[in-house]
Amino acid sequence: METYPVDKIYRQIEPGSVLLVSTQNKGVPNVMTMGFQMMIQHDPPLIGAIVGPWDYSYKALVKNKECVLSIPGIDIIEKVVDIGNCSGDSDNKFEKFNLTVTPASIVQAPMIEDCLFNIECKVVNTELVDRYNLFVLEAVAAWKNADKDKIKPFHHHGNGIFSVEGKTINLQDRMTKWKIFQD
Ligand SMILES: Cc1cc2nc3c(=O)[nH]c(=O)nc-3n(C[C@H](O)[C@H](O)[C@H](O)COP(=O)(O)O)c2cc1C
Repeated sequence: METYPVDKIYRQIEPGSVLLVSTQNKGVPNVMTMGFQMMIQHDPPLIGAIVGPWDYSYKALVKNKECVLSIPGIDIIEKVVDIGNCSGDSDNKFEKFNLTVTPASIVQAPMIEDCLFNIECKVVNTELVDRYNLFVLEAVAAWKNADKDKIKPFHHHGNGIFSVEGKTINLQDRMTKWKIFQD
Protein backbone atom coordinates (compact mmCIF):
# COMPACT_ATOMS: atom_id res chain seq x y z
CA MET A 1 0.00 0.00 0.00
CA GLU A 2 1.08 3.60 -0.56
CA THR A 3 -0.35 6.78 0.94
CA TYR A 4 -3.23 8.48 -0.86
CA PRO A 5 -4.21 12.15 -0.31
CA VAL A 6 -7.00 12.06 2.26
CA ASP A 7 -8.63 15.18 0.82
CA LYS A 8 -9.05 13.29 -2.48
CA ILE A 9 -10.44 10.07 -1.01
CA TYR A 10 -13.98 11.21 -1.86
CA ARG A 11 -13.05 10.44 -5.45
CA GLN A 12 -12.81 6.75 -4.54
CA ILE A 13 -15.81 6.53 -2.19
CA GLU A 14 -18.08 6.97 -5.12
CA PRO A 15 -21.23 8.81 -4.05
CA GLY A 16 -23.78 7.35 -6.47
CA SER A 17 -25.54 8.66 -9.54
CA VAL A 18 -25.04 12.30 -10.39
CA LEU A 19 -28.36 14.08 -9.86
CA LEU A 20 -30.01 17.25 -11.02
CA VAL A 21 -31.81 19.24 -8.32
CA SER A 22 -34.74 21.37 -9.50
CA THR A 23 -36.25 24.01 -7.25
CA GLN A 24 -38.80 26.75 -7.67
CA ASN A 25 -38.73 30.17 -6.05
CA LYS A 26 -41.47 32.79 -6.57
CA GLY A 27 -42.63 30.90 -9.64
CA VAL A 28 -39.15 30.79 -11.21
CA PRO A 29 -37.65 27.31 -11.61
CA ASN A 30 -33.93 26.54 -11.40
CA VAL A 31 -31.74 23.47 -11.67
CA MET A 32 -28.26 22.51 -10.41
CA THR A 33 -25.98 19.49 -10.57
CA MET A 34 -25.28 17.46 -7.42
CA GLY A 35 -22.73 14.68 -6.91
CA PHE A 36 -22.83 14.47 -3.11
CA GLN A 37 -25.97 12.55 -2.19
CA MET A 38 -26.80 9.39 -0.26
CA MET A 39 -29.71 7.11 0.62
CA ILE A 40 -30.48 7.30 4.35
CA GLN A 41 -33.57 5.17 4.90
CA HIS A 42 -35.85 2.73 3.03
CA ASP A 43 -39.27 3.57 4.41
CA PRO A 44 -40.20 6.34 4.16
CA PRO A 45 -37.43 6.82 1.61
CA LEU A 46 -34.99 9.45 2.90
CA ILE A 47 -32.16 10.92 0.82
CA GLY A 48 -29.32 13.10 2.07
CA ALA A 49 -28.44 15.98 -0.29
CA ILE A 50 -25.49 18.37 0.01
CA VAL A 51 -26.49 21.77 -1.35
CA GLY A 52 -24.23 24.62 -0.28
CA PRO A 53 -24.89 28.35 0.21
CA TRP A 54 -22.64 28.98 -2.84
CA ASP A 55 -25.52 27.58 -4.94
CA TYR A 56 -28.40 29.86 -5.90
CA SER A 57 -30.62 26.77 -5.37
CA TYR A 58 -29.78 26.79 -1.65
CA LYS A 59 -32.09 29.72 -0.89
CA ALA A 60 -35.02 28.12 -2.70
CA LEU A 61 -34.49 24.85 -0.85
CA VAL A 62 -34.28 26.58 2.54
CA LYS A 63 -37.34 28.70 1.81
CA ASN A 64 -39.70 26.33 -0.01
CA LYS A 65 -38.47 23.06 1.47
CA GLU A 66 -39.07 21.00 -1.66
CA CYS A 67 -37.32 19.95 -4.85
CA VAL A 68 -37.21 17.38 -7.62
CA LEU A 69 -34.17 15.10 -7.90
CA SER A 70 -33.70 13.90 -11.47
CA ILE A 71 -31.36 11.09 -12.53
CA PRO A 72 -29.78 12.03 -15.86
CA GLY A 73 -28.34 9.51 -18.33
CA ILE A 74 -25.07 9.65 -20.23
CA ASP A 75 -26.99 10.96 -23.25
CA ILE A 76 -27.00 14.42 -21.58
CA ILE A 77 -23.75 14.21 -19.56
CA GLU A 78 -22.21 17.37 -21.08
CA LYS A 79 -25.33 19.39 -20.26
CA VAL A 80 -25.26 18.08 -16.69
CA VAL A 81 -21.67 19.29 -16.21
CA ASP A 82 -22.51 22.67 -17.77
CA ILE A 83 -25.60 23.03 -15.51
CA GLY A 84 -23.22 22.69 -12.57
CA ASN A 85 -20.97 25.39 -13.97
CA CYS A 86 -23.41 28.28 -14.22
CA SER A 87 -25.97 29.78 -11.90
CA GLY A 88 -29.68 30.43 -11.79
CA ASP A 89 -28.93 33.91 -10.46
CA SER A 90 -27.97 34.95 -14.00
CA ASP A 91 -29.21 32.14 -16.28
CA ASN A 92 -32.54 30.46 -17.00
CA LYS A 93 -30.93 27.04 -17.26
CA PHE A 94 -34.03 25.25 -18.52
CA GLU A 95 -33.99 27.53 -21.60
CA LYS A 96 -30.22 27.67 -21.90
CA PHE A 97 -29.90 23.86 -21.96
CA ASN A 98 -33.15 23.24 -23.81
CA LEU A 99 -34.53 20.94 -21.08
CA THR A 100 -38.08 19.64 -21.38
CA VAL A 101 -39.97 20.19 -18.15
CA THR A 102 -43.24 18.76 -16.95
CA PRO A 103 -45.18 19.61 -13.78
CA ALA A 104 -44.63 17.43 -10.73
CA SER A 105 -47.62 15.91 -8.94
CA ILE A 106 -46.94 17.15 -5.40
CA VAL A 107 -44.14 19.73 -5.36
CA GLN A 108 -43.89 23.07 -7.20
CA ALA A 109 -40.45 22.40 -8.72
CA PRO A 110 -40.57 20.98 -12.26
CA MET A 111 -39.64 17.47 -13.39
CA ILE A 112 -37.19 17.01 -16.28
CA GLU A 113 -38.37 14.72 -19.06
CA ASP A 114 -34.83 14.40 -20.46
CA CYS A 115 -33.88 12.32 -17.37
CA LEU A 116 -34.25 8.62 -16.52
CA PHE A 117 -36.10 9.14 -13.22
CA ASN A 118 -37.68 12.09 -11.41
CA ILE A 119 -38.13 12.03 -7.64
CA GLU A 120 -40.39 14.58 -5.95
CA CYS A 121 -38.95 15.45 -2.55
CA LYS A 122 -39.85 17.39 0.60
CA VAL A 123 -37.19 18.65 3.00
CA VAL A 124 -37.92 16.86 6.29
CA ASN A 125 -34.86 17.77 8.36
CA THR A 126 -32.48 20.76 8.30
CA GLU A 127 -30.59 20.14 11.54
CA LEU A 128 -27.30 19.59 9.71
CA VAL A 129 -27.69 22.29 7.07
CA ASP A 130 -25.75 24.98 8.95
CA ARG A 131 -23.00 22.55 9.82
CA TYR A 132 -22.69 20.37 6.70
CA ASN A 133 -25.10 21.77 4.08
CA LEU A 134 -26.93 18.45 4.49
CA PHE A 135 -30.64 18.49 3.69
CA VAL A 136 -32.62 15.36 4.54
CA LEU A 137 -35.22 14.84 1.82
CA GLU A 138 -38.20 12.51 1.81
CA ALA A 139 -39.09 11.09 -1.62
CA VAL A 140 -42.87 11.58 -1.86
CA ALA A 141 -43.38 10.47 -5.48
CA ALA A 142 -41.18 8.97 -8.20
CA TRP A 143 -41.43 8.69 -11.97
CA LYS A 144 -39.59 6.51 -14.46
CA ASN A 145 -38.96 7.48 -18.08
CA ALA A 146 -39.66 4.24 -19.96
CA ASP A 147 -38.32 5.78 -23.20
CA LYS A 148 -34.84 5.87 -21.63
CA ASP A 149 -34.83 2.33 -20.26
CA LYS A 150 -31.57 1.38 -21.98
CA ILE A 151 -29.63 4.55 -21.06
CA LYS A 152 -27.21 4.34 -18.13
CA PRO A 153 -26.81 6.86 -15.33
CA PHE A 154 -23.29 8.00 -14.43
CA HIS A 155 -21.19 8.58 -11.33
CA HIS A 156 -18.93 11.44 -10.30
CA HIS A 157 -15.37 10.80 -9.15
CA GLY A 158 -14.59 14.48 -8.62
CA ASN A 159 -12.75 17.05 -10.70
CA GLY A 160 -14.80 16.40 -13.85
CA ILE A 161 -14.11 12.64 -13.95
CA PHE A 162 -17.15 10.36 -14.43
CA SER A 163 -17.80 6.65 -14.81
CA VAL A 164 -20.68 4.65 -16.25
CA GLU A 165 -21.94 1.37 -14.79
CA GLY A 166 -20.90 -1.73 -16.65
CA LYS A 167 -22.18 -5.28 -16.44
CA THR A 168 -24.95 -6.05 -13.92
CA ILE A 169 -24.08 -8.86 -11.48
CA ASN A 170 -27.11 -10.61 -9.98
CA LEU A 171 -26.40 -12.18 -6.55
CA GLN A 172 -30.02 -12.03 -5.32
CA ASP A 173 -29.97 -15.69 -4.28
CA ARG A 174 -27.30 -14.86 -1.65
CA MET A 175 -29.42 -12.06 -0.08
CA THR A 176 -31.01 -14.48 2.39
CA LYS A 177 -31.15 -12.04 5.31
CA TRP A 178 -32.78 -9.31 3.18
CA LYS A 179 -35.59 -11.15 1.34
CA ILE A 180 -37.99 -8.46 2.57
CA PHE A 181 -36.47 -6.00 0.09
CA GLN A 182 -36.76 -8.30 -2.95
CA ASP A 183 -39.48 -7.55 -5.48
C1 LIG B 1 -20.41 17.15 -11.39
C2 LIG B 1 -20.80 18.21 -10.42
C3 LIG B 1 -21.18 17.86 -9.14
C4 LIG B 1 -21.57 18.84 -8.21
N1 LIG B 1 -21.97 18.45 -6.96
C5 LIG B 1 -22.41 19.39 -6.09
C6 LIG B 1 -22.90 18.99 -4.81
O1 LIG B 1 -22.96 17.81 -4.45
N2 LIG B 1 -23.33 19.97 -3.95
C7 LIG B 1 -23.29 21.31 -4.30
O2 LIG B 1 -23.70 22.15 -3.49
N3 LIG B 1 -22.83 21.71 -5.51
C8 LIG B 1 -22.41 20.78 -6.41
N4 LIG B 1 -21.98 21.15 -7.65
C9 LIG B 1 -21.92 22.59 -7.96
C10 LIG B 1 -23.27 23.20 -8.37
O3 LIG B 1 -23.92 22.41 -9.34
C11 LIG B 1 -22.98 24.61 -8.93
O4 LIG B 1 -22.52 25.43 -7.84
C12 LIG B 1 -24.13 25.23 -9.65
O5 LIG B 1 -23.65 26.35 -10.38
C13 LIG B 1 -25.25 25.67 -8.72
O6 LIG B 1 -26.28 26.20 -9.50
P1 LIG B 1 -27.24 27.34 -8.93
O7 LIG B 1 -26.35 28.52 -8.54
O8 LIG B 1 -28.15 27.68 -10.09
O9 LIG B 1 -27.96 26.75 -7.76
C14 LIG B 1 -21.58 20.21 -8.58
C15 LIG B 1 -21.20 20.57 -9.88
C16 LIG B 1 -20.80 19.59 -10.79
C17 LIG B 1 -20.40 20.00 -12.18
